[in-house]
Amino acid sequence: MFRFGVDYYPEHWPQERWETDARMMQEAGINTVRLAEFAWSYLEPQPDHFDFDWLDRALDILHVHGIQAVLGTPTASPPPWVMATYPDAYRVLPSGQRQTYGNRREYCPNHPGYRERSRIITQAMAEHYANHPAVIGWQIDNEFGDRCYCSTCQAHFHTWLQRKYGSLEALNTAWGTAFWSHVYTEWSQIPVPLETGGAPNPGLALDYDRFMSDSYVRFQQEQIDILRQVCPDHFITHNFMGLHYDRINYFDLAKPLDFVSWDNYPRLAWRLEMNVPAASRAIEHDTMRGLKGKNFWVMEEQSGSGGGQTVGITPRPGEIRLWTYQAIAHGADAILYFRWRTSRFGTEQYWHGVLDHDGQPRRRYREIQSIGMELQRIGDQLAGAETKAQVAIILCYDTRFAFQIQPNHPNFRYPELLAGYYNAFHQRNVSVDIVPPTADLSRYKVVIAPALYILPENVAANLRRYVENGGLLLTTARTGVKDEHNAVVNMPLPGPLTELCGVEVEEYEALPADIDVPLQLSLPGGSSDLATHARLWCDVLHPTTAEVVARYDAQYYMGHPAITLNRVGRGQVLYVGTFGDERLQEALVEWSIATSGLSPALNTPAEVEAVEKWQKDKRLLFLLNHADEAREVILPKEMEDILTGQVQKGRVTLPSKAVMILHDA
Ligand code: GLA
Ligand code: ZN
Repeated sequence: MFRFGVDYYPEHWPQERWETDARMMQEAGINTVRLAEFAWSYLEPQPDHFDFDWLDRALDILHVHGIQAVLGTPTASPPPWVMATYPDAYRVLPSGQRQTYGNRREYCPNHPGYRERSRIITQAMAEHYANHPAVIGWQIDNEFGDRCYCSTCQAHFHTWLQRKYGSLEALNTAWGTAFWSHVYTEWSQIPVPLETGGAPNPGLALDYDRFMSDSYVRFQQEQIDILRQVCPDHFITHNFMGLHYDRINYFDLAKPLDFVSWDNYPRLAWRLEMNVPAASRAIEHDTMRGLKGKNFWVMEEQSGSGGGQTVGITPRPGEIRLWTYQAIAHGADAILYFRWRTSRFGTEQYWHGVLDHDGQPRRRYREIQSIGMELQRIGDQLAGAETKAQVAIILCYDTRFAFQIQPNHPNFRYPELLAGYYNAFHQRNVSVDIVPPTADLSRYKVVIAPALYILPENVAANLRRYVENGGLLLTTARTGVKDEHNAVVNMPLPGPLTELCGVEVEEYEALPADIDVPLQLSLPGGSSDLATHARLWCDVLHPTTAEVVARYDAQYYMGHPAITLNRVGRGQVLYVGTFGDERLQEALVEWSIATSGLSPALNTPAEVEAVEKWQKDKRLLFLLNHADEAREVILPKEMEDILTGQVQKGRVTLPSKAVMILHDA
């Protein structure tokens, strides 16, 4: 069964309405809801006094209508009484200011009292719902995140450091506290990196970010331990926030979960932008699939205009359906829309759901209903289908944290560099996996490792092994600059990859954002007259064993190498000594695709996405037209659209926002 549903807040509405809701959901093909992730006040109105009656009733009504539920542990938004009990459980912001009551996620993840209350409510819910026939699994908390800088965290940080370094001597060496005389002689002297402290020691700052990430991983684990024990038949997940969220090492957070879920909002209220580039969503889905290397759920999918203080753009007709199938094409095994009915109260009054405030079914309900009907027919053919990518892009959270601490260039954004390369593959309909630095790379023909700034020896060894076995690796400027303690390496750059790349960085500089340096590019067998540019960063290269494939055409390093290619046995390494413009990334990706013999799912015009998935040996080809006009594609052979049963061949017209899911006829 394909899981199709909504995020539902029965506690916001009179009980007399619940039956109508459940009936309308059933009529829309909904079989799954997420409930209760913000209902702590109603589940435990007073310390240790639980009330599950209302939730039992809601679940019973849903169950009668064939709907099952994922329950959220409600710890993302504590009731006032919890925070009144522990005034020091409020998170402290990087400015040193303590949060106050009135929003959500205002808690410190290390506060022992908060952690205890979280265990108590989790245990009580787990015991109550372990055997409820409508409950299938759990979402832990809601969108974990945000760093805390309070004194509790500071004390926990000290313990974390003691465990990591063993001695202050080791810590002082790793962080290089000789600089500015920061030699710590007691653990308790070690500060937290508040903004008010100015730019912190990079070693300390990176360890703090890792520690905060671990704090959420440990907080999550406490709830997992309870749920695994009390509800062994239920799955456990958490709703992540895609590639754009950068405060937690998502690979670590995903590890103990059964699968990843995430919240997909293509058009955000605070960005009144009509255009939603297909690749901007695709990279988020692929990142979420990459966290565990398997399919995921979309626990919240946009179903109306987002909004808070202002109102956002509403999904155009056909867009909810298009985004739904795009999610499925990239690995979603379930889609739940946020939210069933738009709230009359609270901060998200204007975050529109499937129904408007008045609960009437309108255009968006009807669109979701038609998707629901389709998925009742064909959902089984889609659920569990696999992506078989031959390209991987490495995402490194240590590197990401380190670039937050030292962006190197005021305009440089690490995820944008990843996205630049991703987009070039996406445009050509070549599937990409997003993987951690230590992933098994043996199944990939091309691996892109953009700016692996923090590069410990085990990661360098992983990349070496991959190339020695015949892989094509592309790496860029700001690779191998730092060791795992965020200290600059004591060797030429790119540090531990210097030999593999067959090149040394002679000099480097950051470029003003408005100055592009033209490149003379001549990739072996490729065209050489492309107008490509170096952007933001220039490494001046000295090849040792590598050949030069691009030279700078301006500045004092005119004529000097900018990009090199090194051959290592059957393997090859491109070192790109700049972040480059879009044209450069496209040229390099195009060359990599051709050199490694990759074939795109299909050649399509702009804004038409073609994605391949495999259901056992059966190939599914998703065609998604994101454009505002109809577009034509040419199919190389006869294929059948499983949505309509129609056989398609040759020249095929896809209306605006149309979807086809083809398989060999
Ligand atoms: C997030 C949260 C939801 C809701 C939506 C819309 O994804 O998980 O609770 O706030 O955004 O803002
Ligand atoms: Zn704290």
